[in-house]
Amino acid sequence: MTTRAAGAAGYITDVAYIPGFYPNMAPVAMRYVAALNRVVPPQASSGFRYLELGCGLGRSFTTLAAANPTSEFVGVDVNPDHTRAIEHDLAAGRLTNARAITSDFAHLPADLGTFDFITLHGVFSWVSDDVRKDILAIARERLAPGGLLLVSYNSMPGWAHLQPIRGILRQYAQLRQGDSVQKIRDALAYLVFIRDRHARYFDDNPKAAAYVDGLLKQDMRYLAHEYLNEHWTSFYFSEVAGMFGSAGLSFVGSLPVFTNFWDLCVRPEFQELFRTTSDRLVTEAHKDFCANTAFRWDIYAKEPRLMADPTERLGLADDLYFHLAKSDVTLPYKANLGVVTSTVQGPVYERLLGLFKNRSLRLSEIVAASEMRETQPMDVIRAVDAGVAMGLFEVTNSPLDPPPASVEGTVSLTSLFNRAILVSDALAGRPVALASQKSGTGHTLGDLDAAMLHELAERGRSGLAERVESRLMASGRSIQQDGKPVVNPDVRRQLITDACDAFITKSLPQLVRLGIVTA
Ligand SMILES: C[S@@+](CC[C@H](N)C(=O)[O-])C[C@H]1O[C@@H](n2cnc3c(N)ncnc32)[C@H](O)[C@@H]1O
Repeated sequence: MTTRAAGAAGYITDVAYIPGFYPNMAPVAMRYVAALNRVVPPQASSGFRYLELGCGLGRSFTTLAAANPTSEFVGVDVNPDHTRAIEHDLAAGRLTNARAITSDFAHLPADLGTFDFITLHGVFSWVSDDVRKDILAIARERLAPGGLLLVSYNSMPGWAHLQPIRGILRQYAQLRQGDSVQKIRDALAYLVFIRDRHARYFDDNPKAAAYVDGLLKQDMRYLAHEYLNEHWTSFYFSEVAGMFGSAGLSFVGSLPVFTNFWDLCVRPEFQELFRTTSDRLVTEAHKDFCANTAFRWDIYAKEPRLMADPTERLGLADDLYFHLAKSDVTLPYKANLGVVTSTVQGPVYERLLGLFKNRSLRLSEIVAASEMRETQPMDVIRAVDAGVAMGLFEVTNSPLDPPPASVEGTVSLTSLFNRAILVSDALAGRPVALASQKSGTGHTLGDLDAAMLHELAERGRSGLAERVESRLMASGRSIQQDGKPVVNPDVRRQLITDACDAFITKSLPQLVRLGIVTA
């Protein structure tokens, strides 16, 4: 592909990244966004091929591999510490449909073949122009016709007033000794020092001053990877669309789902801008300016097959299932998605809520239901999509049974991969994602809930709170109340007992519903 020397090309490799699962990277999410935007999604029922570029510690693609066992997953990363950790996870979870390749993007194995899905999260803004060209070459050569590519990046104008933060951190870090974690720690202390003494940049940019508080809560390894690479760029949407356009890809839509609806992203006074254009590329630019977008997750397609109108989804993309996100939802339902608060109400939604009670349905089943007889199919589809965008409905690969009213007796984990993740990640101080074959994606638990689930599955219910408490103490973590660590042992035990009860009554039925746990 290229004669350039192999290597990380200015990307830091002395410190490993942090593990993280990102639901936007799931084929089920990408396929839904394609269908929503009238693009026929790649088929999924007989298995697909999935490539993640710059997979870090691999939690996204390995979790998705466990959730989609008939499909093949490949993760590529230049950092051998990352791929070694992934190989450990794959072996521990006995996952045979995924593998990690240690390589830069310019030197992928020639026989890698083509993929139905290519994803890259946290990569495109953080690499050099040359590496971006390598990525575009992979998009051109290795995305199968009809395939989908997901790319995330720091976007403008949301980053405009924050760009100096990166400049200050990186320049100060370059003056310091030690590994990248030590350097970013020192650089952050410097940033706080000048902010607290009212350096003019911060006084002139109060949002940048407030942003520093958020940085102080982050893991230093994340900050090192975000701010210390040699290259770091934030793009306008049109620049990225132009680059992928030159690689033969067309813009499809974006994630999260609500970002496909301009009226959920910008205030109503801007509607004239959107009503007067049907050019999606222009719409996206208006949206980013009006909403001050700082980060985008965009989906592109190669040789997309377009549907003439939304009802073609009933024939060409009818293998996705819809269900209520929460069983106790009532109308009117309000959702604030950042800039505007929107309300879902009216007879169509009343009927949809009745229809979805205790079941999940495909689009064709929803449209054909007797409850929807009086509503045009196009209007039903629009209502379902808006409901998904606002978090009222969710989309899965397979139908989900209703959650059981309660879960009694012993419980076990259905997947060795999930078991291995609980062993390594329960109480590790960050959310834990478990794979569900029913939904086709991962589901995130708090790390204390993950410890409860692990204890329940391994050693049963008796003495659960005591066991969870002793693990919590051994991990050096504390339980918090009103933002402060609890030191009184009686209060601590009571809080953990309450948390175990809440986990068993509320979360466990959902985990059974997703097939992550059997009872
Ligand atoms: C910020 S991390 C994101 C990791 C992962 N996608 C995630 O979201 O958790 C970026 C990753 O890209 C990898 N990377 C950077 N440049 C690369 C290159 N030229 N070839 C292969 N991997 C690269 C880094 O090693 C790092 O693991």
